[in-house]
Amino acid sequence: FAALRDVSQSGAPLYLQLKKNIEEAVKRGLIGPGDALPSERDIAAQADISRVTVRKAVQDLVKSGVLVQRHGSGTFVAPRMERVEQSLSRLTSFTEDMARRGMAARSQWLERGVYPPSPDEMMVLGLSASELVSRLSRLRIADDTPLAIERAAISASVLPDPHEVTSSLYMALGKTGHRPVRAVQRISAVNLGEAEAQLLVVPIGSACLQIERISYLASGKVIEFTKSIYRGDAYDFVAELRLPG
Ligand code: GLP
Repeated sequence: FAALRDVSQSGAPLYLQLKKNIEEAVKRGLIGPGDALPSERDIAAQADISRVTVRKAVQDLVKSGVLVQRHGSGTFVAPRMERVEQSLSRLTSFTEDMARRGMAARSQWLERGVYPPSPDEMMVLGLSASELVSRLSRLRIADDTPLAIERAAISASVLPDPHEVTSSLYMALGKTGHRPVRAVQRISAVNLGEAEAQLLVVPIGSACLQIERISYLASGKVIEFTKSIYRGDAYDFVAELRLPG
């Protein structure tokens, strides 16, 4: 980790120089994905700078997704993303998709409650202004990697208490006989703003896929209106195409 020794060479603030050196070390492969960073104290001693300076540089790199911090075990170079290949022709849930890959799906709740519907939700879910909507917004995590942000809206007449959904939304809907059987999905490209980039631990402005799913019951009734943001560096969407006719 010798790159850090040159830290006080130029006139730029020390933490910026250290940040650049760490980035360089990662880029040149001196420390690889998943490798542990030396402790704050060791870096400070090696580079002859204060621990506060080291902390500032490290925190900036955690924010921009170059490093990850795990409670109790230290700071690591962010693991390389293994891309997820997602079929566009199967109506599956995030939990099922991850289970098929041997990964454990987890959610960090961002919002879970019952609200008056927005004009969009009224239109898509066929609700009147006096009805309510259950909103479930989650950061979706596979093993320890945040992959997507999903904001689902379900009519409160179908899901009166969104707190009943503890892990899988589709599993909860299935229990009451409301598992969707068909969906229409719209995919568009977006660049991430600051808040979402921080949640997904990727640099601000990263390319992402915005996916809107409207799903239906066998009766034709709309059951789900979900807007998701999937990491562009993590997903490949695959569809099989056939000749028309
Ligand atoms: C996918 C879809 C969402 C759906 C979710 C349900 O990720 N894009 O529209 O709401 O699966 O996942 P789960 O049942 O794991 O909560």
